[in-house]
Amino acid sequence: MIHVDVPTLALRGGAIPVLGLGTWQAQHGAAERAVSAALQLGYRHVDTATMYGNEGEVGRALSTVGIDRDDVFVTTKLPPERVGREQRTLTESLIALNLDHVDLWLIHWPPGGQAAPRTWDEFRAARDEGLVRSIGVSNYSIRQIDELIEVTGEAPAVNQIPYSPSDHDPALLAAHRERGIVVEGYSPLKRSDLRAPALVDAAAAHDVTAAQVVLRWHVQHDVVVIPKSTDRERLAANLDVFGFELTDEEMARIDALG
Ligand SMILES: NC(=O)c1ccc[n+]([C@@H]2O[C@H](COP(=O)([O-])OP(=O)(O)OC[C@H]3O[C@@H](n4cnc5c(N)ncnc54)[C@H](OP(=O)(O)O)[C@@H]3O)[C@@H](O)[C@H]2O)c1
Repeated sequence: MIHVDVPTLALRGGAIPVLGLGTWQAQHGAAERAVSAALQLGYRHVDTATMYGNEGEVGRALSTVGIDRDDVFVTTKLPPERVGREQRTLTESLIALNLDHVDLWLIHWPPGGQAAPRTWDEFRAARDEGLVRSIGVSNYSIRQIDELIEVTGEAPAVNQIPYSPSDHDPALLAAHRERGIVVEGYSPLKRSDLRAPALVDAAAAHDVTAAQVVLRWHVQHDVVVIPKSTDRERLAANLDVFGFELTDEEMARIDALG
């Protein structure tokens, strides 16, 4: 078992490791193998969802690797079509994950394109019951977040959105920060052109890969990043981004890709 000091960001209800493992499109044993390998390599944050169909595999990996429950941060998500069946869906997630709570539960997409304050109330109730530590949203606009705040008085702890250098939007990050919301960036690698000179040059300067530069860029922007891999070498490389620091000039060049 390898120990890696992954920094955390404070969020309402706890602290979230700034880098975690994505699991979308990992099924049929691949998720279980990837999560087991990742935990052994030092990952302590796993992102799954009801929709990914792999909560059972994630749960088996968590049980067999034998890491203290409190040392792992687990996120799952409610599919929008389960609106009205929030509590039952959460119960199914917890059974599949073999956990008595998750660290973060997200509304996967705005249901029907709406903010869905009623669902947000169900999330708050689940949190108050201790079934989830923190609650948040995914793929929400700031306008939809403001509607949740207006109706319920409570902001999400997290908004999980597509984020990569090509998506960089300082005003969007600031809007989340002003509301005390942690931004989680998904598809960080898929949405990046790893041949972009700003990435290639920084990679050469630090003797790392362009993918590692992308993930490090998220970390330096305090954006939680959840790269997915099922390959042991890429899993190890993606976590190995805490031994170098991008300069202000490198960060600015990468920011300009947005
Ligand atoms: N909330 C949402 O709506 C939403 C939407 C999309 C994703 N997500 C979450 O975010 C996670 C990450 O996003 P994603 O899976 O879409 O994309 P990603 O993590 O940006 O990219 C994953 C792809 O990149 C490859 N890869 C991994 N490490 C690499 C490296 N070091 N160099 C080159 N290629 C590498 C992977 O292949 P190998 O597996 O072969 O390494 C896979 O094909 C998801 O798994 C999911 O947990 C959430």
